[in-house]
Amino acid sequence: MQGLQPYVDPLPRLQTIQPTRTDKYNDFYEVRMKEFRQKVHRDLPPTRLWGYHGLFPGPLFDVPRGRPIQVKWINDLPDQHFLPIDQTVHDTGSLPEVRTVTHLHGGKTKADSDGYPEAWYTKHFREVGPFFEREIYEYPNDQRAAALWYHDHAMGITRLNVYAGLVGMYLIRDQHEKRLNLPAGDYEIPLILMDRSFHKDGRLAYPSQPDDPEPHWPNPSIRPFFLGDVNVVNGKIWPYLEVEPRKYRFRLLNASNTRAYTIYLDSDQPFYQIGSDGGLLKRTHATNSISLEPAERIDLILDFTHYANQTIHLKNDLGPDASPDDRTTEIMQFRVKNSKQHADTSSLPNTLSHIPSLSNQPVQTLRNLKLNGTVDDIGRPLFLLDGKGWMEPVTETPTAGSTEIWSLMNVTDFTHPIHIHLIQFQVLDRRPFDLARYNKDGSIVYTGSPVPPAPNERGWKDTVAAHSGEITRVIATFEPYTGDYVWHCHILEHEDYDMMRPLKIIAPETDKNK
Ligand code: C2O
Ligand code: CU
Ligand code: CU
Repeated sequence: MQGLQPYVDPLPRLQTIQPTRTDKYNDFYEVRMKEFRQKVHRDLPPTRLWGYHGLFPGPLFDVPRGRPIQVKWINDLPDQHFLPIDQTVHDTGSLPEVRTVTHLHGGKTKADSDGYPEAWYTKHFREVGPFFEREIYEYPNDQRAAALWYHDHAMGITRLNVYAGLVGMYLIRDQHEKRLNLPAGDYEIPLILMDRSFHKDGRLAYPSQPDDPEPHWPNPSIRPFFLGDVNVVNGKIWPYLEVEPRKYRFRLLNASNTRAYTIYLDSDQPFYQIGSDGGLLKRTHATNSISLEPAERIDLILDFTHYANQTIHLKNDLGPDASPDDRTTEIMQFRVKNSKQHADTSSLPNTLSHIPSLSNQPVQTLRNLKLNGTVDDIGRPLFLLDGKGWMEPVTETPTAGSTEIWSLMNVTDFTHPIHIHLIQFQVLDRRPFDLARYNKDGSIVYTGSPVPPAPNERGWKDTVAAHSGEITRVIATFEPYTGDYVWHCHILEHEDYDMMRPLKIIAPETDKNK
């Protein structure tokens, strides 16, 4: 919807959830997914949303490393969806319309608590079924401090459930991070960024078909992408935040369905990036612009010390070809106050953490995996991983504890953010090849040498931008659990149709000769 004024609503702070019960070893939480209405902009009537705990975004989990928690994820949503469901995708027509399953993205979680797409359940939950449906999930939190996030992962409708609002952030803390004395408390702010579209009456807008549908396509029919016309941060369209002239730490997540951002500040001040998806980098990286694909997180320090009484905008660079009335260039505003409440005693360390290089590990398996596009039997665009859809038998079956290199060869025309469950990986390199030549005769002709990852990607990652015409290589050790996981493109319209594959981590064979 056109004409909304930016920077009229203060940035909401996420509400930290408290355990309902705690014992010597565990904390217990209960989260109810509910429908509710919430104002997303001063000039819009309240919007119907679905959210964890009745909040959009959901509550913030803030938990220490090493202490397991259990979460009961209660589906208390209406029986009918309010967004357009394509009944032809994954037999959706024969399934209950409203089904949910929660995934902790970036978490080292046992398979039966990972949110397998087919382990969805409804409000009328019963603990039976072909998969391992359960409401109570366990998170060991046995991993380094990082900003994870949780979101819905139900088969065939993830894009709609997430769009409706089923998203939240999950921070793990550890002693190492604490000793760095980073800005904390009021000066550490999670930012959940996403694009959305709204009708004038406040309703969320999600088109029921692709932009140029063929007459014989169903309606609703899944779209190959979605781009909203406004940016929403912590549940408000283009909010502003009053800050003191001092350092802040921002935990930024791109929770959009399809949109990638290239962020910068109009004050030309640098971002100090200190962390990636899987936690702190080795060293602080100062940069004026950062790209952020769906599902990626960045941990940033901004120093407003020398900007008292100034107004600064966090913006999205749409490139030179952007239409002048595309307002997704705007994200949020910082209003720097005249003075600070207390002296800023926080640090901006140069050296942050130790990251052992996985490339020194013996590699058991190399996988060449294509990211490709085709059309389905009625001529709609269809994206696949290595030519296969979700229903085909599992092919990625790493042995637990083994290290693998995955070469992701993108033969489509745009970037796909590829995400692997359970593990954090390292990006080895990206190598360009001649895509036109590949499309002509299938041969792979490199057009350059492998390019090492950018400094801000030299840490732990669980989602990586695999660009068109490049082979992106990542390395990971598949541990510590065995079982059924998934890997997929995190453009949710692709994940649903059909760029998601099972990932089965198998137990090592016991050596009988020993
Ligand atoms: Cu964030 Cu399988 O997802
Ligand atoms: Cu995940
Ligand atoms: Cu994709």
